[in-house]
Amino acid sequence: MRYFLPFLVLLSIVSSKNTCAQEGSLALPDPFTFNNGEKVKSVKDWERRRKEILEIMTREMYGVSPDRPKKMHFKVFDLDRNALGGKATRKQVTVRIIREGREARFDLLVYIPNQARRPVPAIIGLNFIGNQAIHSDPGIKLTTAWVENSRMFPCASDGRATDACRGVNASQWAVDSILARGYALVTLYREEVASDRKAHAFQTGVHTLYPALQRREDNFGTVAAWAWALSRGMDYLETDKDIDAKRVAVFGFSRLGKAALWAGATDRRFAAVLSNESGAGGGKLFRRGVGEDINRLCTMFPYWFARNLGKYKGKDTELPFDQHFVVALIAPRPVYLATAGDDKNSDPPGEFATARAADAVYRFLGTNGLPDSPFPALNQPLTGQIGFHIRPGGHDVKMFDWIQILNFSDLHLQK
Ligand code: GCU
Repeated sequence: MRYFLPFLVLLSIVSSKNTCAQEGSLALPDPFTFNNGEKVKSVKDWERRRKEILEIMTREMYGVSPDRPKKMHFKVFDLDRNALGGKATRKQVTVRIIREGREARFDLLVYIPNQARRPVPAIIGLNFIGNQAIHSDPGIKLTTAWVENSRMFPCASDGRATDACRGVNASQWAVDSILARGYALVTLYREEVASDRKAHAFQTGVHTLYPALQRREDNFGTVAAWAWALSRGMDYLETDKDIDAKRVAVFGFSRLGKAALWAGATDRRFAAVLSNESGAGGGKLFRRGVGEDINRLCTMFPYWFARNLGKYKGKDTELPFDQHFVVALIAPRPVYLATAGDDKNSDPPGEFATARAADAVYRFLGTNGLPDSPFPALNQPLTGQIGFHIRPGGHDVKMFDWIQILNFSDLHLQK
């Protein structure tokens, strides 16, 4: 033992350079141990443990979301069977939710490939700048919600979208490839659902319908509100005969990737989850203590998560839960974590560690989980029921990401 311990220390120093070996040495909360210390021994046990995990992540991290609204209406206000030069059918749908005399609305933009046999599988995801930003198609309604006139996308005037906002974010949305590969694309704007401005948090969109949910420490956070809206998008898709609601994947980039993961975790109707650089509060494990931490999340974006998360500022490496619990909630459904080498904030090895840690649950439930492999080289995707890649470059959604995401989706969603 006397010789063994220094050897272990040396080994961990050596292996800490090799980020892939790290997750093996992290003492993570065990998805298979019940709160009372008992162990999960069967799939039936897992269903009970899953409820505990859902309860923990809801209470401590994302906050409580409302049930499916009783009064909700879908109005298809636009239908063009000949959109994008005949390649797609475009529908735009307003989701109206009414509760106690108040109303919230947001729009879904739906493109359905014309060449594919219907009903088609779909990919649904929130966008950053408004539906009109994902493609230059002049038929897309300009959002009337607030749009930032940012340095990257200087298109808004007085907080309103202008025609200059059409297609400004198109490089992150591979619309043509998605359609050509037989998927419908469905998107909605984060700001119509719930404001992403600190000063306006909880005062717009769906939050205004549920004021009581804000008066608690496990309050309905903004990431949860976005996830909840994705579920309402799914409610609509279940009514659309052109879409196969059993083959809908939920996608998101960055903060919206956090929402996609939580949507997949809380709503089992999503057949797959596709996360692109979701990072802290998404696919990255906090336990490594690398990249964006809880203190930063709770300081910069105190409204994203439940107030309870604030208890864990500075305690990233000793949490009683971690993000592998979120992926475990998605199991055994396919999940893909796309990362980028220069995106240090979202700590790609931390996302890999999450995938590794959730792998046991995927295997327990009878899937092949994440391929048994060390941390992969750049541009070498790993594909099992859990998929992962790291590409060169920074925080973005690139064509490379979409190609892998679509390859992964083909494996799991195309008949
Ligand atoms: C910030 C934030 C990240 C988030 C990112 C984004 O960088 O710290 O957690 O993922 O914004 O949404 O682009």
